[in-house]
Amino acid sequence: MATDATQRLTIHRVEAPERRADFAEDTREGLSGKPKSLSPKYLYDDLGSALFETITLLPEYYQTRAESEILEDQHEAILDSIPGTLRLVELGSGSANKTRVLIDTILKRQNTLEYIPIEISETTLENSSKDLLRWFPGLRITGFASDYENALGALARDYAAAKKIRTVALFLGSTIGNLEPEDRYGLLSRIRTMLEAQDALVLGTDLKKSLDVLIPAYDDALGVTAAFNLNLLRRINEELGGEFDLSQFEHEARYDEDHGRIEMHLVSKARQSVKISKLTMTVRFEKGETIHTENSYKFDPEQLSSMAQKAGFHLDRTWLDSKNQFGLSLFTAQ
Ligand code: AVI
Repeated sequence: MATDATQRLTIHRVEAPERRADFAEDTREGLSGKPKSLSPKYLYDDLGSALFETITLLPEYYQTRAESEILEDQHEAILDSIPGTLRLVELGSGSANKTRVLIDTILKRQNTLEYIPIEISETTLENSSKDLLRWFPGLRITGFASDYENALGALARDYAAAKKIRTVALFLGSTIGNLEPEDRYGLLSRIRTMLEAQDALVLGTDLKKSLDVLIPAYDDALGVTAAFNLNLLRRINEELGGEFDLSQFEHEARYDEDHGRIEMHLVSKARQSVKISKLTMTVRFEKGETIHTENSYKFDPEQLSSMAQKAGFHLDRTWLDSKNQFGLSLFTAQ
């Protein structure tokens, strides 16, 4: 990396030991519960993040392509709706591939831009930041290798420094759909707290649709989503001294109509006991018993408006892709 680019990059980290303690405690609690569950946030270690990036390339996983299509076709219209000098805060930035078109367009409208990506995987954050800095000389990056809560807290305190600059928060990829309703409102409210009135949130949401399209998106022919899900057990083995035999579990994706959500489960193929030495616990499974690992909520366009209002925003507009599969909404802080 050129020295110049190094000077334009700052990364704040949340210490790994703190994260490991949370993983241990949450795993103990989740595997002691009935039904058993694990938090989807632990799907994203370095390997999990790489597997998720692969999922976004799968033919069955329409979401990333649909959202990219909206960004490609509508980026001028979206940015025209948020005039003024901007800074960009992105939650769950990942590879930041989809963000490039916005960064590029903003940098054609103003000379410099501060981009603040928040990404749990430090490796992903560093790699994507270095790449962006190489491409965009006018870009300055202040990254947070942390969960959303820590980073949004720090940004709420630092807001004064950004006076006269309009903050645009980006939350793409329908990651909001992986949160339970109360956590969803908690996060939207925390985002709202970081913003001033007239700042904006650009929110990507997956829409309700036929199961013929939905189920394969979460149970692909190559088995990448299965590997993404099973990686949670590998992670418990590696970090917590677990003894899961991965061949004794299988991935399942099902749709829960009442909640309007896809659920991912790991199904035990046999009656078995699994030791986790660092938790000094043994987990017992019946044949067919599952660990519920993720919910992915799907939304109606009407739900988006009430979601915005409840969290202190106004829904200005939702742009859809050509197949009406995915929505990109502009929420303005009230
Ligand atoms: C990150 N998130 C929006 C993905 C989703 O579609 O819910 C995670 C994922 N799970 C399985 N495949 C993709």
